[in-house]
Amino acid sequence: MNDQIQTSDLLLAADKRHLIHPLHHPNDHANARIFESGQGAMLRTAVGREYIDGLSALWNVNVGHGRKELATAAATQMEKLAYASAYAGFSNEPAIRLAERIVGLAYSNMAAAYFTTGGAESNESAFKFARYYWKRVGKPDKIKIISRRYGYHGVTMAAMSATSLPGYQKMFGPMVPNFLQVAPPYPYRWPGNGDAGIEAADAVEAAILNEGADTVAAIICEPVMGAGGVIVPPPTYFPRLREICDRHGVLLIADEVITGFGRTGKWFALTHWGVEPDLMSFAKGVTSGYLPLGGVLVSKRVLEAIETAPADEKFMHAATYSGHPVCCAVGLANIDIIEREGLVERAAVQGNRFRAGLETLLAHPNVGEVRGIGMLAAIELVADKGSKAPIPGLGAKVVAAAGERGLIMRQRGGGDGPPVSGDSLCLAPPLMTPEATLDRIVQIVGDSIAAAAG
Ligand SMILES: Cc1ncc(COP(=O)(O)O)c(C=O)c1O
Repeated sequence: MNDQIQTSDLLLAADKRHLIHPLHHPNDHANARIFESGQGAMLRTAVGREYIDGLSALWNVNVGHGRKELATAAATQMEKLAYASAYAGFSNEPAIRLAERIVGLAYSNMAAAYFTTGGAESNESAFKFARYYWKRVGKPDKIKIISRRYGYHGVTMAAMSATSLPGYQKMFGPMVPNFLQVAPPYPYRWPGNGDAGIEAADAVEAAILNEGADTVAAIICEPVMGAGGVIVPPPTYFPRLREICDRHGVLLIADEVITGFGRTGKWFALTHWGVEPDLMSFAKGVTSGYLPLGGVLVSKRVLEAIETAPADEKFMHAATYSGHPVCCAVGLANIDIIEREGLVERAAVQGNRFRAGLETLLAHPNVGEVRGIGMLAAIELVADKGSKAPIPGLGAKVVAAAGERGLIMRQRGGGDGPPVSGDSLCLAPPLMTPEATLDRIVQIVGDSIAAAAG
């Protein structure tokens, strides 16, 4: 053990000297945990401490850690063909099979997949697909992208400009022009007594009319907002939004980077509300994070615009690793696991049970709301249930208390610079997490709230 601690201390010292982390700040890294291995819903550090992975790492390890089958799929493919170009004129079998497989699992209007290496690149690509489509059909002025406040779409310039969490933007401005935000369907904090779903959809229509429908290319939406604090829309929102998009000729981009591949209890989340998007971004759960992969699914009409283009209007969008054979082979093996173990249905059933457990925490005076869908949940903390005002820093304290008790989760909102969404504790355990572990999460969250709130 002493050797382990020494090695870990040396590693952390080297880390602090040479490694810049996502969301880097030295204060947040003083006592960083160095992960060494993972099994199922558990992570183990270099000093042998075990944690429940309450967020599936970054909402992505859907099938859980330590799946040898995925390691074998990667090794087998790497030995055979590690990499080759998939630019037009070339292809490879895993990319072809994975595209066919995902199109078959997703919405009935979907026709083809373009692969990327992650969520932000998928959304960048989706914005370009949208603009490309409108140029191809003779409406070159339709360029603007609408997104929703508290939305998170990634850190590249355009994805950041569609993101609406001020902390991610403050030090990197100015934003890319022609991106604008509207109110999200956030029932708990919706002003007035109206239906947040209807009124938030109507806010999109108002924005389209205000900008001029001839200038708006698309709206991008997470079906359930993740980083904004697991905000589940009322069932009225997406059907009405689809109608509005159709009425004004605006493409609907579903950002299913978190919600895809079973997380919400359906393969893809707009299925909950019977709505089909025009473009769908995916990443994370497609490989359960075992290798970086993402992509965009496009509908038949978008594909047709690409397929019928004259040579001088071809889809000049490319990335070296689009259609990477090893990543795609792991994607296929990951989908095999999800299907074989019935993890989509499991997320629905166990998600309901998990949420019912979390709802017992509503007895605490500082728990304002428990919400979620499938294996995706949030607990929103407030000073009191009447005012719903957040207590600055409370969520972060609860997360620290949970860490001491062996649970990793994340706090979102309430502390990203100016108050944004409420102060929410986010949970998204692997879809295979055993019942006893889910119960343990509820227990730890409850104890941690009690400890932090006093
Ligand atoms: C909804 C959503 N879109 C996009 C992204 C960006 O994905 P990546 O970090 O792979 O670029 C994320 C990441 O958390 C996300 O939650």
